[in-house]
Amino acid sequence: MSDIKNLIQNNRTWAAGMTERDPDFFGRLARQQAPEYLWIGCADSRVPANEIAGLMPGELFVHRNVANLVVHSDLNCLSVMQYAVDVLKVKHIIVTGHYNCGGIIAALRNQSFGLIDNWLRHVQDVHHQHREEIDSLEKESARIAKLSEINVLAQVVNVCRTTVVQNAWQSGQNVSVHGWIYDVKDGLIHSLVEAISDPETALELHSSGLKRVRRGVA
Ligand code: CO
Repeated sequence: MSDIKNLIQNNRTWAAGMTERDPDFFGRLARQQAPEYLWIGCADSRVPANEIAGLMPGELFVHRNVANLVVHSDLNCLSVMQYAVDVLKVKHIIVTGHYNCGGIIAALRNQSFGLIDNWLRHVQDVHHQHREEIDSLEKESARIAKLSEINVLAQVVNVCRTTVVQNAWQSGQNVSVHGWIYDVKDGLIHSLVEAISDPETALELHSSGLKRVRRGVA
């Protein structure tokens, strides 16, 4: 059997197992989804959102791209956010980066892989804005880790600055923005910043050069 057929077979086994444990599982999901969380993460195959957060189908709305970027004009990401906040009424938006990210490494080393170089210019912009803090680290592995962390914070600020989140806060909707980093070496998630639930705290983080409410890796 070809590898691709294995996937369909895996699916049959998985679906049967789910139904055995909970006969109405798919019936309930088919009627509606009511996730409380929006996950914005890297496309990396080692960072499967539901699995590492221990959440079932229906519990996590997900947007993934290379290097977990929230670009001001990216209609794809903005549409996911708008639907998640305005229609699904998620309570939490979680930006999750990860260590050993190929996108971060390529950006830091200024490597060339084709079209994606343009996308990773956004990461290079973050590096440029924080070059003193990053470049002062002696080891490359430390510089990669630091850029991965700062990139998450930069994207947290970008989430907070979207019209989607700003309008939600203005109308009194309860939405918190979180910045996490996942370690592919041990499977653990760490929070990088206090939850941000209002425009003032978001502005503090932004105007302090991403330092104001930053936490050490916990
Ligand atoms: Co990555």
